[in-house]
Amino acid sequence: MKKVMKVKKNPAAPMTGEKIRYIDLFCGLGAFHAAFNTSKHFECVLACDIDEGVRKIYEANYGLKPHGDIRKLDIPNMPDFDILCAGFPCQPFSIAGNGEGFKDTEKGNLFYDILNIIDGKNPKMCLLENVKNLKTHDEGRTYDTIETELKKRGYLVTSRCCNAVDYGSPQARTRIFIVGTKMPFVIPEPTITTFTPVSAILDTPSDATVAANSRVKLHNYTLVEKKGDSKPGKPHILYDLISKVTGKGGRQGERVYDVDNVGITVCASSGGPGAKTGLYKVGDVIRRLSVRETLCMFGFSSDYNFAGTTDENSLFYLGNSIVVNVPLSFVPVVESYFGRS
Ligand SMILES: C[S@@+](CC[C@H](N)C(=O)[O-])C[C@H]1O[C@@H](n2cnc3c(N)ncnc32)[C@H](O)[C@@H]1O
Repeated sequence: MKKVMKVKKNPAAPMTGEKIRYIDLFCGLGAFHAAFNTSKHFECVLACDIDEGVRKIYEANYGLKPHGDIRKLDIPNMPDFDILCAGFPCQPFSIAGNGEGFKDTEKGNLFYDILNIIDGKNPKMCLLENVKNLKTHDEGRTYDTIETELKKRGYLVTSRCCNAVDYGSPQARTRIFIVGTKMPFVIPEPTITTFTPVSAILDTPSDATVAANSRVKLHNYTLVEKKGDSKPGKPHILYDLISKVTGKGGRQGERVYDVDNVGITVCASSGGPGAKTGLYKVGDVIRRLSVRETLCMFGFSSDYNFAGTTDENSLFYLGNSIVVNVPLSFVPVVESYFGRS
């Protein structure tokens, strides 16, 4: 009698012809969505973000209305999906935040809500993102917990700290990407060998926003020239601003950076005259970056629709985002993991 050969099923492969479906948890401005939108093979079937302003912007750009609080998602009735993307809130783990990690009952514990969704839906791939400090937080115990919980659920776990400058962005921004898969997966190495300077994305001098952003008030500060060489691919400080009132200075928003090198990390919570974007010397003018320039620092299209949001809030949302270039570099390997090309 003929022996029936059992065909080993590829646990990663969805049905032929179907799109690779993903969900975008803590979606923010949708950097994962912008990256996956460059391929015809992906479809976002659910997004969520607790911030109403973000939800409005996300819908205006991607035509999908995100749900709100992750803790209120109806897991049994969620659509099926292949990839769970989650850039979960980073404040509990970041140097700038409270450092409480999983003890932060409001934000740190949201990882357990991600696990509830994984338990309910068993996706083939989990693509998590956070600040690089997550790896060392609580002497490595926080990262170990994440890895252990994913492994308990049958995932192979791999991670990489990716600096956006290595992916063609003019912004130094390092984030950890953690990938959980049911079959081996290798996070691709960056292939770009030269860096892009901030000067490559600056508005033209005739742009009205340049004038608006030039208006930073520096009369209360003394500019102290910073000695030291510029290193390729590392933000280069030209001046420290020292307050004439307190004699103090040197926070991120009190430094002037060189546009001929990469720029500093855009930070939602940083203050000072260079709040959020940092200050740059553009010709003879010291100024922040405009919203359009900051979009370019993140690899978003410069016609991204902020749906009437104020510039300051738009910069705040950008300061919480990841740089699109990084997940964009994952797209071909994710496609091939799912048998698409
Ligand atoms: C680090 S940002 C994520 C950025 C996103 N990955 C992107 O590409 O822009 C974290 C997001 O989580 C959202 N958030 C915080 N608590 C939440 C909750 N309980 N449910 C859903 N979203 C939440 C915040 O509003 C914020 O937009």
